[in-house]
Amino acid sequence: MLQISVVQFTPTWGHKAQNLEQIRQLLTGLRSDMVILPELCTTGYSFLSKEEVRTVAEDASGQSIGLLKKLARENNALIIAGFAEIEGENVYNSAVAVFPGGDTTIYRKSHLFYREKLCFAPGNTGFTVIKHPLHDCNVGIMICNDWRYPEAARSLALAGADIIACPSNLVTNLWTIGMPARALENKVYVAVANRCGTEERDLPSNEKQALTFKGCSAIYDLTGLALATARENEDAILTVEIDPVLARDKSFNDFNDLFNDRRPDLYRI
Ligand code: ACM
Repeated sequence: MLQISVVQFTPTWGHKAQNLEQIRQLLTGLRSDMVILPELCTTGYSFLSKEEVRTVAEDASGQSIGLLKKLARENNALIIAGFAEIEGENVYNSAVAVFPGGDTTIYRKSHLFYREKLCFAPGNTGFTVIKHPLHDCNVGIMICNDWRYPEAARSLALAGADIIACPSNLVTNLWTIGMPARALENKVYVAVANRCGTEERDLPSNEKQALTFKGCSAIYDLTGLALATARENEDAILTVEIDPVLARDKSFNDFNDLFNDRRPDLYRI
């Protein structure tokens, strides 16, 4: 058994120091074994170009991951958070998993959404599953729009994930249909950390873009039922206890097993 927490808050675009301070305050003293923060939570979301992202993107030695390492050590927790990553010429919409001992693993978003395609390189890490260092729990990571591609969650589940952590910046409500389905069809827990607030930007075309993030962060059980949900427009921390071992039995009655019954010989993917 372990405690997992999803942190919903309202980052401000262009104010990294302020966002990091908010994260520091939210996580200080939080007693949980695994903490999931939203997508791009240190910078805000609405970038317009690669050049713009490059001015704030960081690698694993940057200040964002520096703070997350400190918090992971102090809280003895695995922390998973979205950030803008730079590697050479490329910038990625990434999530970092920071272990209490200071090690990190990075996932780069595979399925970019909307104007992200103008700003980030498509992820090249593939779908990896990490082990919680202190509990018997295998954790897969996907980011936001990856939910629309069931292959992402399936790949993580087939690789042994008991829980899928999903840092998100969701701007429609459709995911409330899709994310629980990802839990149900794979018999895994799914933890969605969404954000709140509205970001307004002037586009190069002189049009205005206003994106409102839909909150409602949630943790789903192995049948897709919500164990906890946040409100649409309020900073919140959801904490629940889960038993990851239950996710390893893929049967759902005496005759059916989700994985053994698969028919890859019939599928075209
Ligand atoms: C999204 O992928 N941020 C909707």
